[in-house]
Amino acid sequence: MAGRGNFSNRLGFILAAAGSAVGLGNIWKFPFEVEAGGGAAFVLIYLIFCFLLCFPVMVTEIAIGRKTNKNAVGAFNALGYSKWNIIGKMGIVAGVVILSFYNVVAGWALGYFFEMAQGNFSVGKEFGSYVSNISTTGIYAVIFMALTAFVVSRGVSAGIEKGAKILMPTLIVMILGLLAYSLTLPNAMTGVKYYLIPEFGELNLKTIGGALRQSFFSLSLGMGTIITYGSYLSKKENIISSTVSVTLFDVGIAFLAGLMLFPLVAYSTGGDMSNIQGGAGLIFAALPSVFESLGAGLGSILGAFFFLLLSFAALTSTVSLLEVPVSYVVDEHKISRPKATAITAGVIFIAGLPSLVGNGYSEMFTSFVTYIGAEKPVGFMDFLGHLADCMLLLGGFLIVTFAGYVWKKENLNEEIAIGYEGYENSRVKIFIGFAVRYLCPALLGILFVMVVLSNFFGVDIIN
Ligand code: PHE
Repeated sequence: MAGRGNFSNRLGFILAAAGSAVGLGNIWKFPFEVEAGGGAAFVLIYLIFCFLLCFPVMVTEIAIGRKTNKNAVGAFNALGYSKWNIIGKMGIVAGVVILSFYNVVAGWALGYFFEMAQGNFSVGKEFGSYVSNISTTGIYAVIFMALTAFVVSRGVSAGIEKGAKILMPTLIVMILGLLAYSLTLPNAMTGVKYYLIPEFGELNLKTIGGALRQSFFSLSLGMGTIITYGSYLSKKENIISSTVSVTLFDVGIAFLAGLMLFPLVAYSTGGDMSNIQGGAGLIFAALPSVFESLGAGLGSILGAFFFLLLSFAALTSTVSLLEVPVSYVVDEHKISRPKATAITAGVIFIAGLPSLVGNGYSEMFTSFVTYIGAEKPVGFMDFLGHLADCMLLLGGFLIVTFAGYVWKKENLNEEIAIGYEGYENSRVKIFIGFAVRYLCPALLGILFVMVVLSNFFGVDIIN
């Protein structure tokens, strides 16, 4: 398709897709999900899900996107199965839901950049009052959405690729540096053990379900982001090895972020892991005091740099979230890209207002709903998070089922073989065929139902 744009090369796609995958999900959400899931057992299950269940889903999404050169909805129409475009439509809704609250948290990260730069380390201890002050967080949320819209309006290769090329590698170096430092602190090993030595006695459906939700969220799967990005991938590229790179990148960064964080947490709680402040405040509460311990000058420079990078990582994800509805509107409704971007971003910002005020400012949205069987209510933002996670799982289930039974694995394989010479006789091909017909539909289907039951209705079949 003329004028639609392509990534300039393989690295461009990998960086952009990895940019979508790597974000607040890895550095902000992953650690508190680990904490909620009870530690190392969660980490192990998460890793298994990423490589076993998410891998075939990502391959399928890229193949559908590249084959059709279309957005998440148009792709199913182009394949001749327009009834199935409901997957893409649900993906658009999921993208809107996720971006609405994700943008708020991205705003916090941006705000923390300025706080650190001014040497205001006490913001960590005052996290609760920081996020309830919506005159500050609201401004950052506006700025963040505007930045996202700016990048998206310029189009994929120009806007997305360039930033990711520089920022992703810098982020890794920064995390490695903090990781090395965190391991030298008192009680560091308590944190490492918590993170790496599983206690399977504590395993329950919440842990398994949480790990599955997190794996889909972190890899940006199940909502058509990767279909959309795949549509900009050239036919010369190898889908399988691209998927391997993106997955390793994403999982690697999440893993390192956890390894960096739990020693810091153990340090700040004096080694008492039963007493962690979990939830959305985990990194925002724990990190400032660590930077403070580096001394005012160095701490403020490194702290500011860290939150700046986190903001950039978030930006490459918000861009991919906004790209899904925007590319749909541009392709299917023939509205110009800048106009489509402005309208969509505005709508999503407004949809994010309950999340903005749901962190202490408005009592109603802060204690929004108590799930059946739960003791405490969750806020609007957490509720949206859980809801979106479930939509991603359902989307993933439908995508592989579509590929395995409707579009058929022969067609999927034909697309994968383009750009991968030895694919015909490879083991990967056998695995993908098995995965899209049996492994993924069965496991994702069963787990989806179980996750919904355990998350919202308090049913735990394992315990
Ligand atoms: N994967 C992103 C993160 O971990 C979030 C995201 C989810 C982006 C779904 C796009 C689609 O931060």
